[in-house]
Amino acid sequence: MKRTPRRPNYHEGRRQFLIGAAASSALPLVASDAAARTAPPPSTAETRDASETNLAVNGRMYRVEIDPRTTLLDALRDHLGLTGAKKGCDHGQCGACTVLVDGRRELSCLTLTVAVAGREVTTIEGLAGPDGTLHPMQQAFIDHDAFQCGYCTPGQILSAVGCVREGRAGTEDEIREAMSGNLCRCAAYPNIVRAVLEARDLVEG
Ligand code: FES
Ligand code: FES
Repeated sequence: MKRTPRRPNYHEGRRQFLIGAAASSALPLVASDAAARTAPPPSTAETRDASETNLAVNGRMYRVEIDPRTTLLDALRDHLGLTGAKKGCDHGQCGACTVLVDGRRELSCLTLTVAVAGREVTTIEGLAGPDGTLHPMQQAFIDHDAFQCGYCTPGQILSAVGCVREGRAGTEDEIREAMSGNLCRCAAYPNIVRAVLEARDLVEG
């Protein structure tokens, strides 16, 4: 009897998709100082969609071979090894992945890497001074005990810097409104607001 070919069900299809995605996320990164990271060029079918993208992150240039559908959050964490930006919801709802792009806050989980090519990206790893001196907002978060588990903190700090630069830190209510996209499951909000108030005059425009 002739058999009808079985169609893959949803879960099988998704599994195959994830296997493909995992393979492409392992693409080699070629940084501008090529000696730092070298790997053979992609050759498998899974990597056929990779393309070269130049990224400026924390004052350093990177050239990455990346699937154009890769989000900035995944590029930072999985390709550049910058794990400060956190993946909370991966849907634009929690703010844990907030970074600065050309000085303005962006949700890196909703931003395609190719969209920021040639623009200046700042993550929490790039906020302190070259000598390690903490940014005033980082110091204020420490001084005011503005974090508990710390998972949301990198996004909170970068969002706070962005909200001050936007001129939206005049009052407590204004700060709460401007920071409402950054969720903290530990409810450290009162201390976060106090930290932003204290640091706002020290944050450069
Ligand atoms: S991880 Fe991007 S908003 Fe939640
Ligand atoms: S300090 Fe824990 S989620 Fe914000």
